[in-house]
Amino acid sequence: MNQTLLYEGKAKKVYTTQDPSRVLVEFKDDATAFNGQKKGQIVGKGIINTKISAHLFRLLENHGIETHFIDQPSDNTLIVERLRMVPLEVVVRNVVAGSLKQRTGLEEGTILAFPIVEFYFKNDALGDPLINEDHIRAMNLASTELTSRLKHEARRINDILQPYLEARGLQLVDFKLEFGMADGDLKLGDEISPDTCRLWDKESHKKLDKDRFRQDLGAVEDAYQEVLERILS
Ligand code: TMP
Ligand code: ASP
Repeated sequence: MNQTLLYEGKAKKVYTTQDPSRVLVEFKDDATAFNGQKKGQIVGKGIINTKISAHLFRLLENHGIETHFIDQPSDNTLIVERLRMVPLEVVVRNVVAGSLKQRTGLEEGTILAFPIVEFYFKNDALGDPLINEDHIRAMNLASTELTSRLKHEARRINDILQPYLEARGLQLVDFKLEFGMADGDLKLGDEISPDTCRLWDKESHKKLDKDRFRQDLGAVEDAYQEVLERILS
């Protein structure tokens, strides 16, 4: 196949393909938290996150969102368009949890009056800090126009994912997106999975995402499998 490893991240490996405009992404079972300080494995996660991401990228494409997704050639790989990544993580929050709870003291589980969009500067050495639109502009990370498009796209994606998941008994608490450019077009990249979303059972509020690993809650594999089954249903 003539594949060269281009990049290895904490949860994925990226390889070249014969087509320079496309890359192969392999999803690993490895899991990290707290900027890599906690390390472990979630058995079967690579395959589950591949299937969930492929399904949700297709769902978004069907609703008119441009994504990097092209094909799922095997259980734990995707073929995607190669993007020039915007060095930001875009987080959307519907419910208080995680760092929002830490930063504000709001009670976990509080439903927000409107979805909050936040930007984090992708920089491991700095621990991916929260930044605002003035910081983005001052550091030349994205133009004002691109920043407002990111916010708009993130809200549109929330408006598609939230009811889809709700109908399958999953509360979309919050999630993280990464975007990039291909031929002048803005596209959604990276993955959408229980690694990058907080998903709670709608009735019991049981956590069904990576917080089970971060907080040592146990039954991590079962939670990922449960999310896959519900999303495909
Ligand atoms: P936070 O509450 O820790 O800021 O996380 C917000 C959302 O972003 C949550 O759904 C988990 C996701 N996330 C990532 O995908 N990668 C990360 O490195 C972090 C910190 C959060
Ligand atoms: N994946 C991130 C890391 O290892 C953090 C997280 O998802 O909590 O830094």
